[in-house]
Amino acid sequence: MTATSKTRADRAARVIERCRQIAACTEVPGETTRLFLSPPARRVHALLTEWMQAASMSVRIDAAGNLRGVLPGPTAHAPRLVLGSHLDTVPNAGAFDGILGVVLGIAVAEEVRGQSLPFSIEVIGFSEEEGVRFSTPFLGSLAVIGKLDAETLARADRNGVTIAEAIRIFGLNLSELPNAALAAGSFAYLELHIEQGPLLESEGLPLGIVEAIAGQTRMTFVFEGRANHAGTTPMHLRRDALAAAAQWITEVEAYANEHTGLVATVGKIEAQPGAGNVVVARVTASLDVRHPNDDARTAAVRALVSAAELAAAKRGVKLATQTHLEQSAVPMDPHLTRLLESAAKKAQTPARRMPSGAGHDAMIVAQRLPAAMLFLRSPGGISHHPDEAVLPGDVEAALNTAIEFLSLLRDDTTIPRDDHA
Ligand code: HGY
Ligand code: MN
Ligand code: MN
Repeated sequence: MTATSKTRADRAARVIERCRQIAACTEVPGETTRLFLSPPARRVHALLTEWMQAASMSVRIDAAGNLRGVLPGPTAHAPRLVLGSHLDTVPNAGAFDGILGVVLGIAVAEEVRGQSLPFSIEVIGFSEEEGVRFSTPFLGSLAVIGKLDAETLARADRNGVTIAEAIRIFGLNLSELPNAALAAGSFAYLELHIEQGPLLESEGLPLGIVEAIAGQTRMTFVFEGRANHAGTTPMHLRRDALAAAAQWITEVEAYANEHTGLVATVGKIEAQPGAGNVVVARVTASLDVRHPNDDARTAAVRALVSAAELAAAKRGVKLATQTHLEQSAVPMDPHLTRLLESAAKKAQTPARRMPSGAGHDAMIVAQRLPAAMLFLRSPGGISHHPDEAVLPGDVEAALNTAIEFLSLLRDDTTIPRDDHA
């Protein structure tokens, strides 16, 4: 094993260790749950700041709670490569979704510092991507592209706290939101992330090169019936909101099973008043619909809304829907994707092109910068679950590929040159 490969293997092992250390920063002892700007985010910021500074990076936290580390380039005006992923998690999450891309970004910076690359490197830990606390994903990356707007900031969580208030409560200054924007000279974005699905493992591959990220629609459905006595109300006189929702949920599953490439999920449901001897008055349910093709997704949403209307009308139940996210499918930049493919070859790592069913900050940053994504195999194909994992050899392969990608970028004629150099 050469000195470099030993160091790389050590670095990869340390990346995994660091992700597990960050996983212990949680709102719920014994599991990993870290929502937008919750108290454990401070410890995450402190750990990443320490690691970034040890990698000769300057560090700041922007007004949306994104952690930003910069490895300087040859001059203050040097073009900038952006690496990043998200710091928040779903409830009872694994240790790698999001944070792996930030910790790997720091490892890349550590490897290339002193190599006098013609560009600076910024590693961004986005404060919120999952959309759990406010049913609105991508808050961190929206701030970085200048789209965290007043309407979004006014959205409230289940306790009535708005995003703007959550930012203030965390001690950040909303008036500085414009400084969260990407630095001038930023020319490309690379996100390293676990696949979160079974494909790479099923083909025995360590890495995947993302060609496009599936579009997604996220909604809330409210079925409004009427509470009544479970013992005295005959079936034909009921307005049972849960029976309506239950019929609809089975139709959501059936529709998705009949349409290739479509996934549709009711992940959250609440029944009120929630007593066993009371006919349910109101059900609040989430709907998450995804497909690589936007027309197929929007057709599915239309079909599932009308299925809900029919299931409700059949029982004299009213239906209201609210859309929180309409995100089109986003292709990755073809040139960067080709470079990533060549980088994997130079790193002698087998990799395949593939779609992403999961959403990522790359789909937001891609509105401003050419973006590319590199996936690492998910053992067991599991994610959004404590058993989520990565293999040390795959982390090393990703690190090797990212380093080769940077050296290809160095010689790439398409990247802007520093006219002050
Ligand atoms: O839900 C997703 O697609 C991602 O994990 N945020
Ligand atoms: Mn996720
Ligand atoms: Mn993620």
